[in-house]
Amino acid sequence: MITNEQMDVLFSQARKAAQMAYAVYSKFRVGAALLCEDGSIVTGVNVENRSFGLTVCAERNAVFTGVGQGKRKFTALAISTPDSVEPVGPCGACRQVLSEFMPPDAPVRFAGSGQDKVDSTIGELLPYDSLYDLADK
Ligand code: THU
Repeated sequence: MITNEQMDVLFSQARKAAQMAYAVYSKFRVGAALLCEDGSIVTGVNVENRSFGLTVCAERNAVFTGVGQGKRKFTALAISTPDSVEPVGPCGACRQVLSEFMPPDAPVRFAGSGQDKVDSTIGELLPYDSLYDLADK
């Protein structure tokens, strides 16, 4: 069971990470923080490219960083988008990739620079996940 305090810590790590985003084209920085099963946290930022299609989102960079460190399961996610006032959720591609390494009941929090925040779950963000049974859980 992930506590609200743990989600606060995770979100502050995402917000801190967002400062390192390479978002020179969109000017839209994103930071993502994943809680690992061992209690450690891995972060990722969006990394853009002048060949725009090569941009990789913060969420996928966080997942790939964690997997490269031997992590195989993440229990919570926080996303910070400091250049929007309102919360911005993960894109469709990232929802699919996140679902490979996170259970449907894993909490997800996202918020912009304003007061509003969204508390959701992976399963809510990717409902009717038809290939879930194929995942190497
Ligand atoms: N972006 C993310 O990093 N995560 C999302 O879920 C949505 C979009 C990035 C991609 C691009 O660098 C910028 O935000 C604007 O789309």
